[in-house]
Amino acid sequence: MAEVVIVENAEAAGALVAAEIVGLIDARPDAVLGLATGSTPLPVYQALRTRLAGRDVSRVRGFALDEYVGLDPAHPESYRSVITRDVVEPLGLDPRRIHVPDGAQETIRHAGSDYEAAIDAAGGVDLQILGIGTDGHIGFNEPGSSFASRTRVKTLTAQTREDNARFFDSIDDVPMHCITQGLGTILRARHLVLLAFGEGKAQAVADAVEGPLSAILPGSAIQLHPHATVVVDEAAASRLALSDYYRYTFANKPSWQGI
Ligand code: GLP
Repeated sequence: MAEVVIVENAEAAGALVAAEIVGLIDARPDAVLGLATGSTPLPVYQALRTRLAGRDVSRVRGFALDEYVGLDPAHPESYRSVITRDVVEPLGLDPRRIHVPDGAQETIRHAGSDYEAAIDAAGGVDLQILGIGTDGHIGFNEPGSSFASRTRVKTLTAQTREDNARFFDSIDDVPMHCITQGLGTILRARHLVLLAFGEGKAQAVADAVEGPLSAILPGSAIQLHPHATVVVDEAAASRLALSDYYRYTFANKPSWQGI
């Protein structure tokens, strides 16, 4: 099962995950990071600002999970713009090495296979950062997504469009379609790190970590991964049946092991 780490707050989660990423980049200067959008990974990017300052990050590579289809990449809420604003610029990464799926209508038919080929050519993702939607989606793999799925176009659920309407002027402006790495793509990353904060994510976290393996619970795909870490605050951990065991195992973890 995934290792669950229950931390005091989002800042502590950011520090923990940033330390792991810094260790990865130190060991492998051209590390391939799997980047996620949304509010959840922001504490990680924030912590990385300080921790990566002064380090050579010019060879670090990255692949975002997803993008809206048909939204101008220059739109402030395109995931290309979000990744540039939240990750590439503040961390000083080389924008040519940071990939985001291409949501342009004209090339959408082969954008998924192109993206898979680019991930393969990079040798795969070393560490994939993940958030989770309130309906349990990871990336934009909505309930019903195949565990074997690869990068492809999906229709957003009404719930996800409502959740993301806060980034747009109105819900009508939220695109209907997205292109997202599949669950099968995500499972090929060498280390998965899923973060979640707040009561609103508690059920999605419990389903992902302890629920049955089911396409209706896309987050449960992480149970198939040999190295998955789930970093949550107390509120997001509140529906986990085995939370005492997770606290006990983390407190007694050998000091030489990272997350
Ligand atoms: C979007 C993204 C997901 C993200 C989710 C949760 O739908 N495509 O990758 O995990 O939102 O967002 P937040 O972290 O803001 O709660």
